[in-house]
Amino acid sequence: MPSTPVLQTPRLVLRPLRTKDAPVIQKRFATWEVVRWLDAKVPWPYPADGAANFVNACLAEMAGGEAAHWALVPKRGPADLIGIISLRPDDGETHDQRGFWLDPAFHGKGLMTEAADRVTDYAFGKLGWPCLWLSNAQDNHASRRIKEKQGARLVDMKIGRFVSGEATRMVWLLDREDWVGRQAA
Ligand SMILES: CC(C)(COP(=O)(O)OP(=O)(O)OC[C@H]1O[C@@H](n2cnc3c(N)ncnc32)[C@H](O)[C@@H]1OP(=O)(O)O)[C@@H](O)C(=O)NCCC(=O)NCCS
Repeated sequence: MPSTPVLQTPRLVLRPLRTKDAPVIQKRFATWEVVRWLDAKVPWPYPADGAANFVNACLAEMAGGEAAHWALVPKRGPADLIGIISLRPDDGETHDQRGFWLDPAFHGKGLMTEAADRVTDYAFGKLGWPCLWLSNAQDNHASRRIKEKQGARLVDMKIGRFVSGEATRMVWLLDREDWVGRQAA
């Protein structure tokens, strides 16, 4: 992938993650409401150096062109990040190319819908990808709804391992042609 660009939405700036984001991630991310339906590889209870390790891994991935990781910063403040959205190329098996989380204080305002739409435009427009594989726990209703609103097709249901344990994992496919047609309509 090319270096992670700055993207804009009406209410958010999406900028590349940086080392000094670690303390605010440690503060905003380490809650059960955020981690519950994330992949089981997220350490829980969250260790004191969890965010620092996470940011270092993200920076290495971005330097190697393996992924893009954006900090979500509201244009009207606060000045620090309130969540993260990530994008990675299809590896042919994981079927989960986009990940996101938001501090619960900012849930339910349509902010992640806005960020996910912008990142999807970037994947299909600038990067020219033909499709996006997406995934969520079946009971993660907000994440599931974002896929539905984007016009993704449910293509598989399997068992996934989440921080909260094993649960049904929904696998979705969003085609560029469907996305472009939907945006034009
Ligand atoms: C998933 C997450 C990022 C959504 O962020 P958000 O900014 O609150 O989401 P939005 O406000 O843009 O939209 C969520 C949609 O889901 C709906 N929704 C939210 N909670 C819901 C629930 N419990 N049941 C049904 N729908 C729900 C909202 O109404 C909205 O749909 P609408 O526009 O049709 O009304 C946020 O809940 C989060 O950080 N969760 C923890 C981390 C996580 O699970 N990440 C995803 C892993 S796959």
